[in-house]
Amino acid sequence: MDDVALNKVFHDHECAYYDERFGIVHDEDSAARAEAEVTALLGAPLRPGDVVVDVGCGTGWFAAGLQRARPDVTVVGLDLSAGMLGRAAAAGARLLVQGDATCLPFADASVDVVVGRGVLHHLPEPLAALREWRRVLRPDGAVVLSSEPTPVVETHGGWLLSVLLRLPGLRGGLAPEDEFWELAAMAANLHTFTRTDLVRLAAAAGYADIDVAASGFAETLAMTASYAVHGHNPALAGVVPWRRLTAAGALADRLAWDRALPARWRHTLTGRLRP
Ligand SMILES: C[S@@+](CC[C@H](N)C(=O)[O-])C[C@H]1O[C@@H](n2cnc3c(N)ncnc32)[C@H](O)[C@@H]1O
Repeated sequence: MDDVALNKVFHDHECAYYDERFGIVHDEDSAARAEAEVTALLGAPLRPGDVVVDVGCGTGWFAAGLQRARPDVTVVGLDLSAGMLGRAAAAGARLLVQGDATCLPFADASVDVVVGRGVLHHLPEPLAALREWRRVLRPDGAVVLSSEPTPVVETHGGWLLSVLLRLPGLRGGLAPEDEFWELAAMAANLHTFTRTDLVRLAAAAGYADIDVAASGFAETLAMTASYAVHGHNPALAGVVPWRRLTAAGALADRLAWDRALPARWRHTLTGRLRP
């Protein structure tokens, strides 16, 4: 099975529990947060009539959230996984298309903003994808990237898991089928990127204006814990207030960790690329 097929099969399975394990709800608050995230990265609000493509839209964080927050823009969600697209539709996304992020069914220079949240690291050829996203952008358009993992998040996540999985209630192996899907989750994550890696890729893909930054620490650790505990002991996971923990982590990141930690310790990349 190649890496694209693996991603399709895995995400068709993961769609059933993705939102729960990552603490995602699709409500007015998340819609406002999705819009605020895009506005901050773009450096300006979306304009009425803008065409936005959410590549690897998953369960619809952007595809549904942006559309709900901004009914005056057209948001198209694209994903490999039919299962994920079904979830995005249920979350309120209006225009959805099944396809590959490296081969978009859109004309040259027809899109104002491409958003990609946590998708580039799943693609076998991120450079080809960035070139393809540039192809569909209008000359004044932009790509907005978020939640791309840096190498250190795997190290820190591994340390956290080795502690968590020794705790009572989490100790002991998984059933073989569950073990298989946990391994598939790891296999579907094809890359991590340093800031330098991503800047180089974007430059090679032909972007002239590249603004990429590393941030995040406590929020990703809370999400890693949530994902693991849900996988190993759903009953125990049900009693932990994951969304509050994740929100507290995000606040701690903004107030302290993003300022205090050296860039090489930060867990995710966000950015804006313009042709
Ligand atoms: C980590 S999820 C992110 C989902 C969503 N953007 C979010 O932030 O919640 C990655 C998504 O990328 C999709 N994906 C993986 N490879 C893809 C590809 N080659 N083309 C399009 N989508 C892909 C997966 O199906 C999955 O829905």
